Formats: sequence, structure tokens, C-alpha cells
Amino acid sequence: MFKKAASHTDTPLIQRKVSFDFSNTPLHWIPGDAFSSHFISVIHTILPAGEFFFCKLYNKALPYIEDEQLREDVKGFIKQEAMHARAHDAGIAEFLEAQGMEVRSFIANVEWFFDQLLHDQPFGQKIPDSMEKAWLKFRLGIIAAVEHFTCVLGKYALDNTEWDEAGGDPVVLDLLRWHGAEEVEHRSVAFDVYKHLGGRYPMRYFQMFIVFPVLMGLWAKGSTHMMAQDPLLAGKKPRLLGLFYWMEWQRVARTERLPSLFWLAKQASHYFVPWYDPVKEASTEQAQAYLATSPAAAKFNGTPLKAVKVA
Ligand SMILES: [Fe+2]
Ligand SMILES: [Fe+2]
Repeated sequence: MFKKAASHTDTPLIQRKVSFDFSNTPLHWIPGDAFSSHFISVIHTILPAGEFFFCKLYNKALPYIEDEQLREDVKGFIKQEAMHARAHDAGIAEFLEAQGMEVRSFIANVEWFFDQLLHDQPFGQKIPDSMEKAWLKFRLGIIAAVEHFTCVLGKYALDNTEWDEAGGDPVVLDLLRWHGAEEVEHRSVAFDVYKHLGGRYPMRYFQMFIVFPVLMGLWAKGSTHMMAQDPLLAGKKPRLLGLFYWMEWQRVARTERLPSLFWLAKQASHYFVPWYDPVKEASTEQAQAYLATSPAAAKFNGTPLKAVKVA
């Protein structure tokens, strides 16, 4: 009987061991734009905890994956995500904290999600043996929804020209685009794994309903936490539930330096359609064209696209 391919990744996933030197990067890395700088810098504080969690969970999922190609994709995915987390960890220590930003209290909030709520034993409660696989599958579905955002935001970073025109710091831009390009490369893996383990459409719908507000909430909480420490913005009282933050975000988004809330909601809506296909959300060719010229990643060239499988 004809069997559908489990893997829809069209390139070998390699780990590029990059490093970034933030010693000349200013806190306002988009000159004269404190709001956008903090809004984007917050990703350093959100991603490491999440990506290390992804690595742990996919290591647990590996024994359940019966398709050899998908197993290879997952191994590459784990290596790429581990490198992303390390690069953003350096962004915290060598960039944000080195410039006086207190971010550890917010990071503790992010870690709570992964170390408590999404833990194998949530809040220390043992999941019954019969439910363990379902709990794993549910969390893999949550990650698949998050990975939809990392893919579309990766494409956003690759497409964006406003940051360059505004004189954005080249090290931060390379970090964003290297990471974004690898998110585009591995955009199908989490979704393929979710489906391979029997993940179904209605639950996917529910998972995005959780992921979208949680992501937006964390993003707003983390970026307002940094803005409130910045004398240039503190007087405007940037707060999660304050008007300034949400109005200013939408104003800046019109300059195309930030994705708007509307744009993000529209991206989320793609995930709700039954025929959603991560392959169609971005282009591996565009990602690899950037990686071939990235100051940090170019030396790891040589990842030709493999023949695209026909489902
Ligand atoms: Fe990543
Ligand atoms: Fe990813």
C-alpha cells in the first residue's frame, strides 16, 4: 500500500557552530529606536528556556519515531535548537546584562512554563503511565504551534529591510537572520512529528488557541520589563496591561520595523486551516541564500537541498 512520507524537510539539518561578539553592540541596537530595540531583544530571554525544553522533549520522542528520515530530521532539529539556545544565552549575559538590564526575574517566569507546567510531572504530579504518551504528544503539538511562529518570524527577519535602513547593529541582525533561516530550514519537523505520532486536527486548533495568547503575553511582559528599566521609556509607564505599550507597538509596526499584532494574528490563522502545510509558509532557498552570506554562519556552507519528496 502507498505510504505517505513522514518527513517533509527538504534539506539535511546541520548544526552551524556560530558565535556572536556583542562587545560593540549598543542597548538601542536600532539607533534612536529604544522601543523596537527592546521589543526584539526580549527574544534572548524567552528562547533559551524554550529551546532547551524542545531538545529534551524531542529526545524523549525519538524512540516513538519509526520513520528513518524523520528520525534524522529530529536529530538535526535538536542540534540546531541547542545552538540557538546557546547563542541567545550569550545575548543575555554579554549583551543585556552587560548593559545593566535585569532580566533574570522575567526569565524565571518563562522557565516556570517549561519546568513546571509542561514538565513530565507537571507541578510535581506524576502522570499515570497510561497517559504518558498522550502527554508527550500534547506537548509536541504545543511545540509544533510554537514552531509555526518561529518559522514565520524567521521569514519576517529575512524579509525585513527596515532594520538595515535604520542602521541596525550588524551582529544582532546576523543573529536574528541566522536563527530565522534555520527555523525556516526545519519548519516542518515539529509538525511532521506531531502527525507521525497520531496528532489530530482538532487538538492542533486547541493548541494554537493556547500558544498564541501565551506567546503574546510573554513577549509583552518581557519587553515591558526591559523598557521600564530604560530611562528613555520608563516615564511612559510601559506595562503589560498599559495603553502605551500596545499603542506604541502598533504605531512602530506601521514603519515595518516590528510585526503588528494583526500580522501575528493573521499568521496564527494559517495554522487553523485543515490543509495547513509548513512547507508553504517559507522558502528553504531563501533561508540558505542568507546562510551562505551570514558573517557567522557562511563558513558552514555546504548544505545542498535534498530532493523534495512527493507525499
Ligand atoms: Fe530556534
Ligand atoms: Fe525551531
